[in-house]
Amino acid sequence: MKFVTIENWHAEPLIDYRPELETGNVLFFPVTPFVLPADAQDFLRGLNFSGGAVHKNIAYRPASDRVTGIGGDPATAERLRGIMGDYSRAVIDFAGRLLPEYARAWKVDYASFRPLEEQGRGLPLNKRNDLLHTDAFPSRPTNGDLILRVFTNIHPSKTRNWMVTDPFPVVAAKYAKSAGLQGVAEASGLAYQSARFFGSLGLPVVARSPYDRFMLHFHEYLKRNSDFQATTPKYRFDFPPGSTWLTFTDLVPHAVYSGQHALEQTLIVSRGSMADPGRAPVAVLEQLCGRKLVRESGFSRAASN
Ligand SMILES: [Fe+2]
Repeated sequence: MKFVTIENWHAEPLIDYRPELETGNVLFFPVTPFVLPADAQDFLRGLNFSGGAVHKNIAYRPASDRVTGIGGDPATAERLRGIMGDYSRAVIDFAGRLLPEYARAWKVDYASFRPLEEQGRGLPLNKRNDLLHTDAFPSRPTNGDLILRVFTNIHPSKTRNWMVTDPFPVVAAKYAKSAGLQGVAEASGLAYQSARFFGSLGLPVVARSPYDRFMLHFHEYLKRNSDFQATTPKYRFDFPPGSTWLTFTDLVPHAVYSGQHALEQTLIVSRGSMADPGRAPVAVLEQLCGRKLVRESGFSRAASN
C-alpha cells in the first residue's frame, strides 16, 4: 500500500483516483483542499469538556442537520451545529469533485469531531483505536457498499499518527477463515429475514446481511488477534496539522495511536460505482467462501435508519 500525496489537485488534469483507493491506498493532501475558517477551528479546539457538557465524540447528521454529543448551553450547541454543517458541506463538495463517479451514487453518512487525545485513552478493547482494524457500523449496515472516510487534522501543532497494513484481500485471505467466515456464510438467513420483516413494520431492527455480520465480527476479531497485531506489516504515517486524507476504512486496516482534534466525514460508496467492484470486501469474501453474502438490492438501508 502507499500514501499518495496530492499537492495541488485543482491544477491537475482530471485524474480518476478510484483505483488508488480501491487498491488500499490513502490519498493525502498536505494542505486541506477546502475551506475551514480559522475561527471555526478555534471554536472546536476550545470546547470545554469538563462537567460532561460535551461528549467525547461529536457527531453531525447531515440529513437532519443535527448534532449529537453535546448538551448544556444552547448557544454553544447552535454554533457547533453551524460549524459542523459548513464543514460537512465543504468536504462533500470537495470529495464530489475529486471522485465524481462515486458521488453519483454515494450515501452521505455522519460527520464527526474527535476532540480527545488518542494516546492513552484507556478504552475497552473493541473501542480502542490504536489496534489495527477494519471499520463496520453496528447501527448502519452497508449491504456490501464501502465506507469512505475523509479526515482533517485541525490540531495547531501536533501530527495525527496512523498505522495501516496490507489491504483487505491480503488480510482476509489470511484470517477470514479462522474468523469464522464459512459459518457466517452458511448460517440460516432466518435472523436476517425476521429482522427485515420487523423492519418493514417500522420497528427499530437492524437487518444485517451475512456480510455485515461478518464485518462487525471481523472488526473485533482483528483487534483481539495478537498474531495479526504483532506480525502484519505496518506502514506508519504522521499526518501534519492542516492536512487532509481519505481512504476506505473497511478495505484498509488502520489504527490511530496518537493525535488530537480531527474532523471526519463518512460517505457510503456504492459498490456499483467502483472502478473495479471485484475489489470490494464483499466480493473478496464471497470469492473466499463461495457463497453470496448480500442480496443485490440495498434493503439493509430501508430496514435500518
Ligand atoms: Fe476505524
